[in-house]
Amino acid sequence: MENMDGLAVTECTRCPDLVECRSRIVNGTGPEDADVLFVGEGPGEQEDQQGEPFVGRSGSILDEKLRNRGLSRADVRITNCVRCRPPENRDPTKEELENCRGYLEREIELVDPEVIITLGKVPSQHLLDRDVAVTKEAGQIERVELGGASRSVLICVHPAATLYDRSQEETLDAALDKAATMAGGSSGQSQLGDF
Ligand code: URA
Repeated sequence: MENMDGLAVTECTRCPDLVECRSRIVNGTGPEDADVLFVGEGPGEQEDQQGEPFVGRSGSILDEKLRNRGLSRADVRITNCVRCRPPENRDPTKEELENCRGYLEREIELVDPEVIITLGKVPSQHLLDRDVAVTKEAGQIERVELGGASRSVLICVHPAATLYDRSQEETLDAALDKAATMAGGSSGQSQLGDF
């Protein structure tokens, strides 16, 4: 695909605001054949600085929860709906999401994960292509056509949401339990067939 080298976007100037704000393009990380693919919204300041998704506060929460389940970043793939930091961490616009969509679809196609876990409202709505009440719908798995095939998408809250609302932590924990089972964490056997 144009502008991509494997799973990585090498150059892109489609979104003027983001090109102006970014220090770099932040591509997904983790195995190219991961069973579990987390999708966030877009890079924040830390991610923009370090060139990796989820390395700020939300990332620490995610890391700790993976670790508690016998997993690390090396076991899962983590990416975002947009790969460049929006100014003042605003939500990406519809146009920006669409500009970046082809890259995400291509990543999904190549990784071919068993489950895609959407972290928060923006990725949930973007991938399911409908309004999503994340807190209410978190934990649901829906089948969606993405990256050239029908995929399982597990709706999940954003890790940062657990900082402000402890009740959301249970939802995140439940999603990560499923992820751990599917990625073969300390809970033992992979149970891909269950999904
Ligand atoms: N939040 C996101 O949605 N993505 C990141 O990469 C970091 C924080």
